[in-house]
Amino acid sequence: MDQNPFVYGEIVTLPAFVDRADELDRLVGDLGAGQKVFLISPRRYGKSSLIRQALGTLARYGALTIDITVSSYSSYAAFLEGYARALLQAETRIDRARAWLREAIQSVRPEVRYEVAPTGESQLAVSFPVAATGRDVSRLAAEVFRLPQDIARTRRRKVVVALDEFQAVGAFDGGSVEHALRATIQRQRDVGYVFAGSEPTLMERMLGPRRPFYKAGPVMRLGKIPESVFAPFVETRFRRSGMRTEPGLGAAIVELAGNLPYDVQRLAHEAWDDARAAGRRKVTADDLHATLGRLLAEQGPLFDGIWQRLTLPQRSALRAVVLQEGRELLSADTRVRYRLGGASSVQAALAALVRTDLVMREDTRYAVIDSLLREWVARKTF
Ligand SMILES: Nc1ncnc2c1ncn2[C@@H]1O[C@H](COP(=O)(O)OP(=O)(O)O)[C@@H](O)[C@H]1O
Ligand SMILES: [Mg+2]
Repeated sequence: MDQNPFVYGEIVTLPAFVDRADELDRLVGDLGAGQKVFLISPRRYGKSSLIRQALGTLARYGALTIDITVSSYSSYAAFLEGYARALLQAETRIDRARAWLREAIQSVRPEVRYEVAPTGESQLAVSFPVAATGRDVSRLAAEVFRLPQDIARTRRRKVVVALDEFQAVGAFDGGSVEHALRATIQRQRDVGYVFAGSEPTLMERMLGPRRPFYKAGPVMRLGKIPESVFAPFVETRFRRSGMRTEPGLGAAIVELAGNLPYDVQRLAHEAWDDARAAGRRKVTADDLHATLGRLLAEQGPLFDGIWQRLTLPQRSALRAVVLQEGRELLSADTRVRYRLGGASSVQAALAALVRTDLVMREDTRYAVIDSLLREWVARKTF
């Protein structure tokens, strides 16, 4: 029997990737032209998947591509090592790679060797003997950040660098990372960069006046996938994998999932699994609600933990966001109905919910980001 055609929690590749044609064209064009692009959206909208598609296309055109997730490093020095290693992989011969890196990095003596990864594969490792002071790290950073242009020149290829979850540089003494990067990348005509960030507030602040990245390049704000595209896509994927759907099922999934790409794929994937486990060949709206009930039960302990960590004003504000669909939260009427207290304390509670990524602002309204959390709050809290 067919495999589950829906993918979530990992980067989606071509058959499961929907729409984003304009965004992809723009990203490929800008990066190919050596621009420094900022890609911003909340988590799970599809930035990493979009970047992967763009890099794939650029690689087919002959560019060397490097893809790094900044948030996966535990220190600035570890990030620099990971970055240097990813860049070195563009040079497949270890002896040449070592010589090249030693020449490019003067502030410390880099060690390059092969090591066996936990997966059993051997891979290149780079380490910089601990740079002791912040000044040492900054000097090293300036040298590492110059490497992409070096590679572009020596290999005579375009280089494209993706720094995903870029807002995480804030934790590595962000100001100096931004300064060091801006100072070097500006002159790198043959290198395209995409800085992708999942915390819109942090990213927008990073692009503000008086910050190093102010006007450094085009900004793309990734929105949701239009429902009119996503819903038929979902139904087609069900059908092609041998599963019939009740009319309107695609739209129901997109709606229940708040049209968040991750949540749409999750609900579709789980509904598909439940149908297969039950030996069914068709998915109805009732089946969908049963799947949703199962997911809520599974996530219950996690949501309970989130709820317990909220202050009382945050809990009432979160309930109001859910029950009012994020509208009119500051009106006297709403504040009385949900016992929210004064407008300024509601604003403070909403700001805290936005900061912790539970809620986002969408035009004129607030929305709970995780559609399962939204349903859980509606059903299990009072
Ligand atoms: N273009 C797309 N088509 C279909 N599903 C998508 C698309 N973009 C994202 N998704 C879904 O959303 C999930 C999260 O995408 P990801 O690229 O990791 O988002 P981000 O990097 O913004 O957090 C994916 O695993 C997939 O389920
Ligand atoms: Mg991502």
